[in-house]
Amino acid sequence: MAIDRIVTTTIDEDDAEEQRIEVTLRPQNFNEYIGQERLKKNLKLAIDAAKKRSEPIDHVLLYGPPGLGKTTMATVIANEMGVGLRVTSGPAIERAGDLASILTNLSDGDILFIDEIHRLGRAVEEVLYSAMEDYKLDIVIGKGPAARSVRLDLPKFTVIGATTRTGSLAAPLRDRFGHLYRLEFYTTDEIAQIITRAAKILNAPIKPESAKLLSSRARLTPRIANRLLKRVRDYADVNGDGIIDTLMTTKALELMEIDELGLDPADRHMLMSMIENYGSEPVGLNTIAALTGDEPTTIEDFYEPYLLQIGFIERTPRGRKATPKAHKHVGRSSRLNDT
Ligand SMILES: Nc1ncnc2c1ncn2[C@@H]1O[C@H](COP(=O)(O)OP(=O)(O)O)[C@@H](O)[C@H]1O
Ligand SMILES: [Mg+2]
Repeated sequence: MAIDRIVTTTIDEDDAEEQRIEVTLRPQNFNEYIGQERLKKNLKLAIDAAKKRSEPIDHVLLYGPPGLGKTTMATVIANEMGVGLRVTSGPAIERAGDLASILTNLSDGDILFIDEIHRLGRAVEEVLYSAMEDYKLDIVIGKGPAARSVRLDLPKFTVIGATTRTGSLAAPLRDRFGHLYRLEFYTTDEIAQIITRAAKILNAPIKPESAKLLSSRARLTPRIANRLLKRVRDYADVNGDGIIDTLMTTKALELMEIDELGLDPADRHMLMSMIENYGSEPVGLNTIAALTGDEPTTIEDFYEPYLLQIGFIERTPRGRKATPKAHKHVGRSSRLNDT
């Protein structure tokens, strides 16, 4: 479905404004990074210990749904360590040679952030193993019988990997991370704090009750919270005096068709199709994808985590099931749409 979803957890790479705002709002240190207390506590300890020994911190794997703050946390770690950060991604490193050149250009202590690390190719992954394990790079020079392998020393660096799915990560790669952390959905209170902080940075006057209202619609996800804020601010600028109050917030949310649980038309359409065609029976991922016209990975990464979190769908060995809660919610919203 080619609709432009407001609640999508990805950022639009063609939208320069959106990218600029995402960078402006990105917390730079632990104090600015709201929530994820367990993660912060563990990382602070690891960072303090590493600093004391003047060593890099052990490799860190961050996993969890998009928009929860993985990339942000990589920046925070680099800032807190006071080291350089090099950012790349699984799909961007096409050949082993690409990785070799990135690695040999790092300085001691640097952090290499690899986004979507589950999408690294096999050959690249193997080079990464020994690099992570003992800071060595094995490369083969020449071809055929004349080929010989050489070992290069690498600077002592830290890999921070981010992935939406640990399941797709090869076990040997996963094993090379000393720290594995799952990012959790935020509480609505934390989301309200994130909205208030962002509004201050954007110079958008927002009433506390509006921050609270928005926080209940943001799918417990900071990226969506910031995006909703931006839309409501636009609405208040055009239709009011720029102050984000309850009326402006409610009207803007209505316009975006975001319901009281933060679901948008695409979520409701997906749930409705599952229910109309399969009732409470499990539905395979590919079937759901066919029903909505999305890629199966889109369903898994973007629709599903929040719907699982609020108990609207269940994963069973035979597929996904819409729960009674989802039946009730969708039934109600379809009646509302009829009137
Ligand atoms: N803990 C947080 N506190 C405040 N803002 C956050 C937090 N986590 C994420 N954000 C905001 O949400 C946006 C998306 O976060 P990001 O780190 O890019 O998510 P991910 O990499 O997991 O997809 C960031 O630009 C940032 O403004
Ligand atoms: Mg990211």
